[in-house]
Amino acid sequence: MDEAISADGLIDRYCVIGNPIAHSMSPLIHKAFATQTQQKISYQAVLTEKVDFPTTIEQFYRQGMKGMNITIPFKMDAWEITDQYSPDAKLAMAVNTISFDKSGGIIGDNTDGVGFIRDLMINHNTLIKGKDILILGAGGAVRGILRPILDEQPDKVVIANRTVSRAKQLVRDFNIVDVSVCGFDELPERCFDIVINATSASLYGKQLPLSANLIKDDTCCYDLVYAKQNTTFGIWAKQNGATKVVDGLGMLVEQAAESFFIWRNIRPDTSRVIKQLRKEL
Ligand code: ATR
Repeated sequence: MDEAISADGLIDRYCVIGNPIAHSMSPLIHKAFATQTQQKISYQAVLTEKVDFPTTIEQFYRQGMKGMNITIPFKMDAWEITDQYSPDAKLAMAVNTISFDKSGGIIGDNTDGVGFIRDLMINHNTLIKGKDILILGAGGAVRGILRPILDEQPDKVVIANRTVSRAKQLVRDFNIVDVSVCGFDELPERCFDIVINATSASLYGKQLPLSANLIKDDTCCYDLVYAKQNTTFGIWAKQNGATKVVDGLGMLVEQAAESFFIWRNIRPDTSRVIKQLRKEL
């Protein structure tokens, strides 16, 4: 029997669930992966409200859905209803990929960290080992990428956040001692090898109060957010001389590829899809 067809003879169904969801690129990405790897699947975008989130998941399972991507603002809600976690999801306390086991149990994963690392290290040829790294933000996005970054053995990591107590809590939750935490106005007077913007400031077109001294010409400035033109953070980085400025489009495709691999056990070629998406932005 064709693996893509489930026992009831239907095409395997997947979706992304979030709010808002209309502009999600995930359906386009997963359809491109499916065409490329000749997997017969369907993938749709689903809007739901916070109060309806658990029942929506339950309904989709009953209707035979195989897996779901979870996006803003439900990644922590998904973590709460998950029965089994991958180590990445457990540490992140956030789930962006769920699969249903045969008895209806929900298996939760978080592919954001893997997606970030693959994009930075493979697509942008930037190693983390031995580097001095600044992470801006202390929300869910940082929870997704922090452990995979530490696993690559950077020399130093500083986390700066508008609300310092939130950054302190994050470091406590991760049980790590060798990461320093501060507010934007307390940042050390030195430049970093990699600066990662994991705040949502770029989403709102807001500039972070950062000194130009934090970067040098070969600092890799990576914004987890993507935009048609430069993000606000990307503009700041370029204006201050950074030549390697990256946005989160590649990470978006790489995290999707990891979800696709979890569900279909096949790895799509992400570079083609990143190029396609960049044209369509
Ligand atoms: P996400 O899941 O995208 O990380 P989140 O958990 O709401 O979303 O976290 C948003 C992050 O962006 C936080 O670090 C937030 O700072 P606070 O913890 O102080 O709220 C940061 N952020 C959002 N808007 C910001 C702004 N205008 N200036 C600075 N930081 C901002």
